[in-house]
Amino acid sequence: MNKTEAKNALVTGGTRGIGHAIASRLSASGAKVHITGRRKNPDISSEFIYHQVDFTDESSVKRFLEYIAGSKIEILVNNAGINIIDDFCDIKIPDFDAIQKVNLSTPFQICQAVIPNMKYNNWGRIINIASIWGCLGKRGRAAYSASKFGIDGMTASLAAEVAKYGILVNSVSPGFIYTDLTREILGEHGMKEVTEQIPMGRLGQPHEIAELVSWLVSMENSYISGQNIIIDGGFTRV
Ligand code: NAI
Repeated sequence: MNKTEAKNALVTGGTRGIGHAIASRLSASGAKVHITGRRKNPDISSEFIYHQVDFTDESSVKRFLEYIAGSKIEILVNNAGINIIDDFCDIKIPDFDAIQKVNLSTPFQICQAVIPNMKYNNWGRIINIASIWGCLGKRGRAAYSASKFGIDGMTASLAAEVAKYGILVNSVSPGFIYTDLTREILGEHGMKEVTEQIPMGRLGQPHEIAELVSWLVSMENSYISGQNIIIDGGFTRV
């Protein structure tokens, strides 16, 4: 098991899917894990410190940022994300804006809130969950890709700026992972179709992303920073 003992971690969107798998994995390796979600009283384990926050609601974000700035976060995983698929000219501006808020600008602000403490400690780990659609384009994904290419751009520049303080920043880009989001977006038929295009012949599981993230934020990762690590069963290499 990787060593993240006694570290304070924050995983956004930790109530389900990939975020929940990451939060559980970090907690199992000894971290004190804060998670966020949108619901008031979600059914989650008492091992987590839960924060209700909606990234599209400015006052909710402001309150959360004030709290987080004072809570000595050492490991940040920006995981919360949404996706709305539409042909380019049909994308509604409020939808475009909501995607950028949840996937890019609130993660940016959360980084700003946690970095001063990481600098003070001369140690920190930030993972931004991007996507293969932050490396490749696809019809219908312009708003989502804008946010995911954007967050990886943020990763690269931030990593360059904070490396001298012992803060390592990386993007992790999942392919098709079996979660509620994927079921909603692709449906059973869509999932069957993409499975045929994945060399490994199956969708990924949230715990497989969690294993990678857990290693990247641990003491064992001492030299990987500024990277975008794709985890997709081989999909983007064929
Ligand atoms: P999910 O839909 O199962 O979970 C998303 C999380 O984001 C939830 O905990 C939810 O509370 C939070 N969230 C959604 N809207 C929010 C808002 N307005 N304010 C605050 N939090 C909000 O999604 P999943 O599949 O676990 O995805 C997690 C991350 O991985 C996302 O960033 C997604 O873009 C990315 N990803 C997922 C892939 C997949 O195949 N599932 C593939 C590539 C990237």
